[in-house]
Amino acid sequence: MWKNNPIAQHLGIQYPIIQAPMAGGASSPELVAAVCNAGGLGSIGAGYLSPAQLSEQIDAVRCLTAAPFTVNLFVPESADLAANADKIANMQTLLKPYHQALGLESTPSPHTALPNFAAQMAVILEKQVPIFSFTFGQLSPEWVEQLHRADITIIGTATTVAEALALEISGVDMIVAQGYEAGGHRGTFLESVSKSSIGSFALIPQIVDKVKIPVIAAGGIMDSRGIIAALALGAKAVQMGTAFLSCPESGISATYKQAVPHSRDQDTCLTRAFSGRWARGIENQLIRDLADAEIPDYPLQNSLTRELRQAAAQQSKPEFLSLWAGQAASLTNTAPAAQLMAEWVHGVESGLSLLK
Ligand SMILES: Cc1cc2nc3c(=O)[nH]c(=O)nc-3n(C[C@H](O)[C@H](O)[C@H](O)COP(=O)(O)O)c2cc1C
Repeated sequence: MWKNNPIAQHLGIQYPIIQAPMAGGASSPELVAAVCNAGGLGSIGAGYLSPAQLSEQIDAVRCLTAAPFTVNLFVPESADLAANADKIANMQTLLKPYHQALGLESTPSPHTALPNFAAQMAVILEKQVPIFSFTFGQLSPEWVEQLHRADITIIGTATTVAEALALEISGVDMIVAQGYEAGGHRGTFLESVSKSSIGSFALIPQIVDKVKIPVIAAGGIMDSRGIIAALALGAKAVQMGTAFLSCPESGISATYKQAVPHSRDQDTCLTRAFSGRWARGIENQLIRDLADAEIPDYPLQNSLTRELRQAAAQQSKPEFLSLWAGQAASLTNTAPAAQLMAEWVHGVESGLSLLK
């Protein structure tokens, strides 16, 4: 009984396969809706979207599907401009040659502000988004109460057992267990990333044994083999990001789309070079060049590299792009999302019948 299991029923979906929220463009409305229409759960990665952009994306998804979907946000973190002043000045000097190489005349400027979290949440509540997920921390009791009062399911992200227990106590309904293999930013919020780097095979069963709420496995799951393994470890659903990156519906640049399936198992690394927060991506020149640099805190570094990343995407220069991807990126299949979903569902069903 993997499909229509209790977690799938709770989420209102057929198959417990969640397309990971991917802030920065990958989780386009087309991708979200394609996954929803194929019986999974699509997620809008809205961490960097203004309230107006988020509202538009929700409407765009609703034009393409009547099925439930998720909106995902970043729990706000602040950075101290004054405390980072030396690192910022140093980074501006370091980034100058890259700006020049890309034909940018501006000096990278630092901002501490991400879109206003309360205003983003207001859109989610107003639009009655059925499922809300978040990463980088915990929600305040007030937000948990407001979401639950609006009948919105809440999913938090944990990278350790301690984080999963803290999230459970805070009142979330489900937990994403994010293994070390995972592409994109680490959700880590209690201890250092080096103390929270646990592979999915070790993390999932340990969280499953410690919490009473359903666990969603994330990190390195690329096909039906990974889905079966995650279910066998006790997860009730999977959240897959990298596996959807190179679909035609994904919103990333063509250069990035090509780099993902062409990478090897050894090609990704954790870096703070692009945002100031640890994240996994395909190693490239900018990551190597900044490996020993003093990186300003998130989100300051994110703002300092924004222009550079946008120009690199436009000019098809993968050596300066944040190519977020997980350790199993080479297993990427570039087929449309509906085809991937159908293949995985078929693979899980045949695999499970073989195991009987
Ligand atoms: C390009 C990219 C962007 C991501 N952005 C987010 C995000 O905005 N919010 C979030 O909770 N997780 C984000 N993640 C992490 C995913 O939720 C998930 O943990 C990860 O994709 C699982 O590992 P996998 O990439 O090996 O499937 C992102 C992952 C990728 C690859």
